[in-house]
Amino acid sequence: MTMAEARAAVADILSGKFGGAECVIEEFLKGEEASFFVLTDGRNALPLTTAQDHKRVGDGDTGPNTGGMGAYSPAPCMTPALCGEALERIVKPTIRALADMGHPYVGVLYAGLILTREGPKLIEYNARFGDPECQVLMMRLKDDLVALLLACCDGTLDRMSVRWFDEAALTVVLCARGYPGEVVKGSAIRGLEGAASLEGVEIFHAGTALKNGELVASGGRVLNVTAIGKTAQEAQARAYAAVDRIDWPEGFCRRDIGWRAIAREEDR
Ligand code: GLY
Repeated sequence: MTMAEARAAVADILSGKFGGAECVIEEFLKGEEASFFVLTDGRNALPLTTAQDHKRVGDGDTGPNTGGMGAYSPAPCMTPALCGEALERIVKPTIRALADMGHPYVGVLYAGLILTREGPKLIEYNARFGDPECQVLMMRLKDDLVALLLACCDGTLDRMSVRWFDEAALTVVLCARGYPGEVVKGSAIRGLEGAASLEGVEIFHAGTALKNGELVASGGRVLNVTAIGKTAQEAQARAYAAVDRIDWPEGFCRRDIGWRAIAREEDR
């Protein structure tokens, strides 16, 4: 966030401690971050939907970065106009350029955008669905994902369309204590059946294993407690009601997933 931090980061990189001694310096992008997902068969682009995640480990978006402590979809800041702009100005030119280079890209393009004062700008692409963004996308997807992915492989994406539930989906990531640092594995997790039986709730497993017939934690990010609701607020209430039914003293989660989307709903 400051020139001193930037200089320290460059010194760290050039010291070789990350294995190489090269770095690319890019424009600093200021604004809200949002994720925009697109499928492509190498020629055609089919826009999917949007999401936002919470990367910091602590409430209020504080503490170290993680792989993602929770997410929601849609991202209310990504208006249809901004999605259209990102598609035409960023995603389609990328797909065209890759094809022109003789390397057409087929699959999921996840554009990480910063909504700057000059419009959406790309901070990164991932060639995959996000984690935990994928969990909220799948809760809202009405159509068959396999058919869409096969159309990518077959080069027939221009004949496909995709429908979404209008509801909001929100996921809370349950982590083992210590994450994103060292975690202790093997603690028992109970109460999932009761949690998953709540209306609109699905629980996706990430770092779990079965040990002697009992569910145990086997990683840092362990469970994704996900819910759909008429609003982000309803989805959040459902997800945390499910979290509270899970008996796992060695786990923790953020308690404010979705705060931006809910604040926007309250402002309306
Ligand atoms: N949640 C961020 C990612 O999947 O890259």
